[in-house]
Amino acid sequence: MMLKDKTVVLGITGSIAAYKAAELASRLTQAGARVHTVMTKDAIQFISPITFRALTGRPVVTEMFDLASEYSIEHVSLAKAADIVVIAPATANTIAKLAAGIADDMLCCTVLATRAPVVIAPAMETDMYNSPVTQDNLLELKARDFVIVGPAAGWLASGRDGLGRLSDIKDVLGSVRLILGRDGDLCCKHIVVTAGGTQEPIDPVRYIANQSSGKMGFALAEAALDRGARVSLIATPTMLDEPSGIEVTRVATAEQMLKAVESAMTGADPLIIAAAVADYRPKGTKAEKIKRRGGGLTLELECTRDILGTVKGSFVRVGFAAESSNIVENAKEKLGPKDLDLIVANDITAEDSGFGCDTNQVTIISRDGGIDALPLLTKREVADKILDKVVQLFVQPEPR
Ligand code: CTP
Repeated sequence: MMLKDKTVVLGITGSIAAYKAAELASRLTQAGARVHTVMTKDAIQFISPITFRALTGRPVVTEMFDLASEYSIEHVSLAKAADIVVIAPATANTIAKLAAGIADDMLCCTVLATRAPVVIAPAMETDMYNSPVTQDNLLELKARDFVIVGPAAGWLASGRDGLGRLSDIKDVLGSVRLILGRDGDLCCKHIVVTAGGTQEPIDPVRYIANQSSGKMGFALAEAALDRGARVSLIATPTMLDEPSGIEVTRVATAEQMLKAVESAMTGADPLIIAAAVADYRPKGTKAEKIKRRGGGLTLELECTRDILGTVKGSFVRVGFAAESSNIVENAKEKLGPKDLDLIVANDITAEDSGFGCDTNQVTIISRDGGIDALPLLTKREVADKILDKVVQLFVQPEPR
């Protein structure tokens, strides 16, 4: 969402990893950014500008003096329009030129002329990367506030295994989001979000779980990141990709989640609990697999500790209430005992809402009794609505 209507200059230089920039162009475009691709003459040896023309829906700049280009007349116009410049992959040669201020192609000219933040994702052979001059050039660029992402280690086109691969596209995108969000309304805040359903072991094979997919918690974490927060996400095993730029701690049980929340909370501001935490766990996990013996099996369960009830502190506290009846009334009853500023109630029996869906219909109830019944929205939109209220609480805390 935060990339919507942002102007991104995507610089591509002559590395075998240039083909990976196609995914970056596509993902930026899908996220709503206006992507202007600038390719060096070596880059077009590796991948055709037509690919980027098709993926971004915009002309691709390959020549400094192309009279047909809308940018060549005033060659700094792209530099001025940019909200961010991303060079992926960036070769040792382009890095050296940028460090020295050489402006002999359209990409270097654009970087030299822009005031926008610049992200550089190097990709090159290990020895080129490790060479003192490349390292010096990268240090020089860092000192000038360029953001360097990677490179990653792994298999290289030279056949070697080493440092020099273009970082994962999701990591490059993560940096773009961090940079564009850094002036957001949650900037300088540290937010702890929990996500997913806990798993309480019965024996080494089986556990008690629930239907939570973690999507709401992940949406909250990503929305907070896009609004400039530092985000600690404490998540149970889920099928979801770990969002780049977010510190993710994996846990399984309610007890592990409680410990992870306690350790993440040092210095954090709002605690947002989205996870479906087990209320009961088997009393004493069996060390050996329970064998089929015929007849029935009775499991004795004991109460888990209530995370929100245990973690105390004068920070903004947001809980969720997954209800199947008397939604608002049941949710309201949890506000006081859990000392919540907000509780987000959802009807888990509603279609298109709750566990596993990409959409959610929630009612946000605040400590002062305010009730905001939202329409069916995507989980990301719900996340932003919740964060709007969190931001208001920072400006105007409610009396406890
Ligand atoms: N919660 C928690 N620790 C638990 C159980 C729940 O912190 N051991 C949190 C949930 O993450 C959620 C809120 O408390 O933010 C409400 O959870 P919910 O399951 O709706 O309520 P419970 O307190 O468990 O009560 P009940 O299941 O009886 O409705």
